[in-house]
Parts: sequence; C-alpha cells; structure tokens
Amino acid sequence: MKPKLIIGNWKMNTSFDEAQDLIIGIIEALESVTLETGVVLCPPALYLEIATDHADDSDLFNVGAQNCSEYDNGAYTGEISARMLASIGVDFCIVGHSERRKYFNESNETIAKKVNQLLQFGIVPVVCCGETREERKAGHHCEAVEKQLAEALFQLPKEHFEQAVIAYEPVWAIGTGETASPQQAQEMHAFIRNLIEKKFGTETAYNSYILYGGSCNAQNAVELFSQNDVDGGLIGGASLKADDFVAIIEAGETAIREN
Ligand code: PGA
Repeated sequence: MKPKLIIGNWKMNTSFDEAQDLIIGIIEALESVTLETGVVLCPPALYLEIATDHADDSDLFNVGAQNCSEYDNGAYTGEISARMLASIGVDFCIVGHSERRKYFNESNETIAKKVNQLLQFGIVPVVCCGETREERKAGHHCEAVEKQLAEALFQLPKEHFEQAVIAYEPVWAIGTGETASPQQAQEMHAFIRNLIEKKFGTETAYNSYILYGGSCNAQNAVELFSQNDVDGGLIGGASLKADDFVAIIEAGETAIREN
C-alpha cells in the first residue's frame, strides 16, 4: 500500500482565533510522531496565509484551498484565482465539491476550467465526485461518477492528469453521519481506478490517489483506509477538532502498517 493522504476540509467554519488554535493543536499532536501519511489542511480562504506560514515553519502539513476561480485574472469581484493561491504557497485546492455543485451551480465544465487554472500554477486539484442518494437507489452510482470524471478530469493529457487527486464523496454520506460501507467505498474506488487504467494505463492508475469522503471519523477510518483502493480521506466535520483529525491521520498509519 502506498502512503495515505488525509485532507481536512474545514468548509465555512472557524473564527480567526479558532483557526489558529486548530492549526496549533494539530501541529502539537503531529510533532511527536513520525508520519508516512500526507496531511493537508484546507481552511477558509481568509486563513490560508496563516496556514501556509505555519506549514512552512513546521514542515508537517501542506495547505489547500476549498475553491478557486475558473478565470485567471481581472474583473471578477469576490473571486480568488489559482494564481493568487500559488503566490502565498497553497499547494492543493478542492474543486467540484458537491456543496459547490449544489449551492453554486457548478457544472463539470466549470470544474474542468478550474482544474486547468490550478495545474497552470502548479497546484494539485482535488477533484470531487459522487452520486446522490437517488442515483445510488436507482443503481446508477457508477455511471454518475463516470460522467463527472469524464467531463471534469479525464479530458486532461496524461502528464497533467497524473498531478490530480480524486475524492469520491457520495453526496448522501456528506455531513449525514451515514458513511459508505467499506465495501461500497472499495467497489467505487476500484471502479474509478479501472476507468483511469483504461484511459491512462496501469501505472498511472496505480499511482493515482483516490480519497474517500463522507462522514469519515476516527471510528470508521481504519477499516475504510484498509480497503485496497482507498488511498486516504477528505474529512469534513471530523477535521474541526485537532484530536479527532489526528486520530484519523493515525488511522492512515495503522492501515498501512496492517496491510
Ligand atoms: P463530512 O464532509 O466528513 O463532514 O461528511 C466531507 C466533505 O464534505 O468533504
């Protein structure tokens, strides 16, 4: 098994002081352990610069944004570009999260443009995909995910695709406390890896990171991360408490040791 990657998506949570305390709490816990697992914190945009300062000083984690503009530069009031993110040392950026698809009408086409922007500035896009409850009930979950990936990510040339991370997040599991079973997660991750293999070849498929997200917590993380094709997690609610988040990182280490 390759080392896991654990990404904390704080969403629109924390005040300035709470954000600082959370970063410091995570650093203090990680200082005493040697990790193989990669750790990325995605705080709200306003706190990215503090996070990159702490990341530079501690060398324990990387920093990711939760979104970026599909445009490069110019008169787009309120937007934050990939160019700006790169200029303060942001290394990752979540794109196409189901909350952005639902509340901000993001289409696969928009997501593809954001991915292009990020790659242009050397930022790793963490591209989210996942079916709704209705799609799963109807047995269309694989097709739904295939369409999202085909339109938002698979258009890339292989050398660019290889820089991206995929996060499978079934919409019905996000923030609901209802996690996909390890078998459901493994089935979808294997399906996605297979799609990658068909399009980009075996080596690229093996090296690709496919994360699971959706009510992942310290209790269920080891079992999820022990699945062959689950390379780590995109963690929402449980990334807002240092102890919980660090326990999930430790689950990543346990899964590697035991498999
Ligand atoms: P959750 O969110 O862990 O709170 O379910 C995951 C996500 O939306 O990235």
